[in-house]
Amino acid sequence: MDFLPFNYMTWAKSHQGRYAFDLSVSGMAPPDADLFALDSRCLTLQGVSDDLRQQLKFAIAREYDVIPSKVLLAAGTSEANYLVCGALLSHGDGVLVETPGYQGLMRLPSVFGAHAIPFARRFDERFDLSVESVQQAWRPGVKLVALTRPHNPSGFAASTEALRALGEWLDTVDAYALVDEVYRDFDPNPPPVAQALHPRLITTASLTKVYGLGSLRAGWALMPEALVTFAEQHYDFMAVNPATTMLNLALSAFTKLAPLRARAIQRAQHNRALVTAWLSDSTCFSAQLPAHGIIALLQLPPAVDDVMLAQQLAQEKQVLVAPGSYFGAPGTLRIAYGMESARLVEALERLEIGTQAHFQGRP
Ligand SMILES: Cc1ncc(COP(=O)(O)O)c(C=O)c1O
Repeated sequence: MDFLPFNYMTWAKSHQGRYAFDLSVSGMAPPDADLFALDSRCLTLQGVSDDLRQQLKFAIAREYDVIPSKVLLAAGTSEANYLVCGALLSHGDGVLVETPGYQGLMRLPSVFGAHAIPFARRFDERFDLSVESVQQAWRPGVKLVALTRPHNPSGFAASTEALRALGEWLDTVDAYALVDEVYRDFDPNPPPVAQALHPRLITTASLTKVYGLGSLRAGWALMPEALVTFAEQHYDFMAVNPATTMLNLALSAFTKLAPLRARAIQRAQHNRALVTAWLSDSTCFSAQLPAHGIIALLQLPPAVDDVMLAQQLAQEKQVLVAPGSYFGAPGTLRIAYGMESARLVEALERLEIGTQAHFQGRP
C-alpha cells in the first residue's frame, strides 16, 4: 500500500548528533547517573512479561490518574500513535490533522489507507485549539482528529475547556481525537491528561521528551478499555510483548520521575529567559514563546526559504535547526532549547549571525 514517507524523521535521523550546536532535538538529554543509573538487576532475561506489563500499566495509570485497564503499552509515543490509528482507521477514512503539526501525525493516516484533512492552528491565535476550525473541516467519513498538546511545533498548549468541548462534540459525530501529550509534563502544574477529560480523547505519550529517556522506548496510550483490547490484538501480530529489559527499566524509571521532571522544568525555565532576551535583540526572527517546555517556532521575514537557511546554518555555523517546512509551516524554523545553558547562548548567537549572513547572501 502506498503511504507518505515520514521525511522529517529521515532528516532528523541523518542530521541530529552531527553538528556542534543542536537546536533541533526536542527532548532533554539523557540524565546523569546520579538521577537515573541503569540498574543491572533490570538487565535480566528472567521475569514474566505479563506481570511486568501489568506492573508498568499500574505505574502509568497511577501517575496519570486513569484506571490501569485504560493503559496500552507501546514503544514510545510513535508506536502508541501507530497502534491508535491501527485500531480506529480503515481504508478510505478521513482524519482531521492539525496544521502546522508534527509530520508523524500528519502523514500517519496514509499508512492505513486513510487520508489527512488539515485543520488550522493559527500563528495569530497563538496556535490555540479552535473547535470551530475542527468542525469546519469535518466531513462524513472522518473517524479521528489528530493533535498535539502542547503543540509541536509551537509549544503552546490547548486549553482544558477547548479539549473538553472537542470531546463532547466528537460524541455527536461518533469519532475520537488522538491527543499526543508527549510534551505535557514540562508544565509544572499540568492539566489532567486528555483521556481523563473525556472518553473520546485518547492520550499518547512516553518518557522520551521531558525525562530524557527516549532510548528506553517506554510509551503508552490511554483510552477506553475496548480500544486497548483491540489495539493489543494488533500488537500481538507486531511484537507479542515489549522486551522484558525495557519493562524492568521503565518500571525503575517510574520511581524516579519527580527528580527527572524537576530537572527538565528548571532547565526549561532558565533557558526560556535566555531565549526571550536573545529574541528581543534579534533582527532576523520574531516569535512568541510558550510558558512551558523547550520548543518554539521562529518566524522568518517573508520569502526566506527555511530549508536552504537550515542547510546553510548547519554547514557554515554548525547549528542545527528544524526547517518549518517539515511541520507544514514554511518560512519558519523550529528550535528546541533544552541544552546546557552556556552552550545555548553560543548556539543562539551563531543562529543570529548565520541567518544575517544568509540574508546578505554570504556564507
Ligand atoms: C509530537 C511528537 N510525538 C511523538 C514524538 C516521538 O516520540 P517518542 O520518542 O515517544 O516515540 C515526537 C518526537 O519529536 C513528537 O514531537
